Amino acid sequence: MSQAISANNIVKKFQLSNHETVTVLNGISVTADYGEFVSILGVSGSGKSTLLKCLSSLMVPDNGTVSVNGLDPYALKDSQLAKFRRQNISMIFQSYNLVPELPVFENIILPLRLAHKKVSKEEVTNLLRKMYFEADINAFVHTLSGGEQQKVAIARTILAGSQLIFADEPTGALDSASRQVIFDLLKQLSRQGKCVVMVTHDIELASETDRSLILKDGQIFMELHHPNASDLYAALRTDKR
Ligand SMILES: Nc1ncnc2c1ncn2[C@@H]1O[C@H](COP(=O)(O)OP(=O)(O)OP(=O)(O)O)[C@@H](O)[C@H]1O
Ligand SMILES: [Mg+2]
Repeated sequence: MSQAISANNIVKKFQLSNHETVTVLNGISVTADYGEFVSILGVSGSGKSTLLKCLSSLMVPDNGTVSVNGLDPYALKDSQLAKFRRQNISMIFQSYNLVPELPVFENIILPLRLAHKKVSKEEVTNLLRKMYFEADINAFVHTLSGGEQQKVAIARTILAGSQLIFADEPTGALDSASRQVIFDLLKQLSRQGKCVVMVTHDIELASETDRSLILKDGQIFMELHHPNASDLYAALRTDKR
């Protein structure tokens, strides 16, 4: 398997006030390969979303290096970076990042339109059906429930066809049947050779990924290969502050 991501000694701090900073990531090193499904776990506020942003070219770390597809995204000019992201990366955000004023279908095909790729309505409809998406494809997304919006965000990512997929709690708002379906779709993408990095609080799903990283106090507190649920429960129990 070839390397998709390599991050070395990442530090990320946030300025809280004039006098106060908080170090959220304190020397994190991570690699992930194509064909691999990596999960990131940790208590709320442990820095999972921040790490995902640093790894996915969205947030420049204060220190350390990030290499995505063999390239340092933060060394690119803005226009190059936008192109690099479009060509390599898909992101499912914790907050969905949909365009509320656009219908479901238009939201889903937005990245494809931007990349001047062909879109088949049938492909979109088939995927949505597989995901148990019950709402109207022509509905405006602001009229959808949280779970439905999450499915739209996931469908958009899957159809974009990127080699690198970052997902921040992609199953957080879903019922248990949809949760497993969405997870299986992501897993299928990793089996097709894509690199999937997923933040989750869901231990059962994490135990079906290839590797789990557990964040605590700004560092990788534990790394589990082929994690099983009881090891993950134990790791997260000791992780309680
Ligand atoms: N832009 C910001 N400015 C200041 N502090 C921030 C910023 N972004 C994140 N933080 C702080 O960094 C810490 C980690 O946030 P982050 O969103 O990465 O946590 P998380 O592990 O994803 O949590 P959750 O499970 O609740 O999503 C939190 O204490 C948060 O308040
Ligand atoms: Mg988060």
